[in-house]
Amino acid sequence: MKVRNAILASGIALAMFGTCGSLASAAEAKCKRPTEFKLAFNQTEAHPQYKAGVEFGKRLLEVTGGCYSIKVYPNETLGTQTAVINNVSDGSVALAWIGGPPLEAMNPDAIVFNLPYMFASYDAQAAIFADESVVGEYKNATVASKRVKVLAGVFAGIRNVYGKKAVRNIADLKGQKIRVQQSDSQVKMIQLMGAVATPMGQGDVYSAMQTGTLDGAENNETVYDALKHDEVGKFYSYTKHLMIPDYLIMSADVLEKMPEADRKALLDLVPEVTKIANEGFKAFVEDSIAKAKAKGATFVTDVDVAAFRNAVAPLVKESINNPVRQKLYDAIQAANAKYPN
Ligand code: GCU
Repeated sequence: MKVRNAILASGIALAMFGTCGSLASAAEAKCKRPTEFKLAFNQTEAHPQYKAGVEFGKRLLEVTGGCYSIKVYPNETLGTQTAVINNVSDGSVALAWIGGPPLEAMNPDAIVFNLPYMFASYDAQAAIFADESVVGEYKNATVASKRVKVLAGVFAGIRNVYGKKAVRNIADLKGQKIRVQQSDSQVKMIQLMGAVATPMGQGDVYSAMQTGTLDGAENNETVYDALKHDEVGKFYSYTKHLMIPDYLIMSADVLEKMPEADRKALLDLVPEVTKIANEGFKAFVEDSIAKAKAKGATFVTDVDVAAFRNAVAPLVKESINNPVRQKLYDAIQAANAKYPN
């Protein structure tokens, strides 16, 4: 009987840790079974944020001695980002990657990072999110009110307009029904660019473009290809209007319930996770462009970017309207001057 129990116990230990290979032996395990955190993600398994999430889970299992693991749910399976951010807020989902615009519902000052033509370069944006003296308070701003902790901001590409026709100037976009992310800033922005704004979750864009509810959308090249939008909108036009960060967010309730040592171990992993998400992105963009071209997409580069920039300037001006936003805006301008391209 004892032998049978020992075999059973080792079998369970193997099932727990054998496949992930994260713990050298079950004897190292501090907990009998890991608590599994859900990480919501609205894109595919090819995305570096998915890979970063999976690695986060593996490393978390190691550094907490088998007490905590993460399961990443890709492809919007846990719902749109707007839904998911509320689930993180109420603690029913522990973690999520979300875009900047949904965060505006929790912290209106998040708008600063979602405004058109805000960042001059990838390096400027990276410098801002690496500087705790700039983003420290911002990341904690929703902890008390919404129980959402922003763990990190990462690069999520440069957004451009795409659809059934090439867009070289504002006249080309006039009257076009363009999908935007679900926030006021994004609606106002695309209206100023000449289009009719249609806010919706990312997962509905393909069929809306297919049926003609939408003429197009705006996003980076990876979404254009990975979500197959290049099948229903052959022209990708470089308006270069946005460089919005994505955020890794966590339920403050879930985080605070962890024993202090495990919580610290989790937080210590964030720079590593951020690095994986950032590093994989540029290659993902190149790969997406090549794949879209092979499917017949046209990338339009002779776009009157200055005209679009002028058109959206009033939105930028009216949005920097309190001291918190002004401080973030000034820091971005300083980073832009240091890293102009
Ligand atoms: C990008 C971004 C996402 C965002 C999406 C969208 O993919 O990385 O966070 O949700 O665009 O437009 O909805």
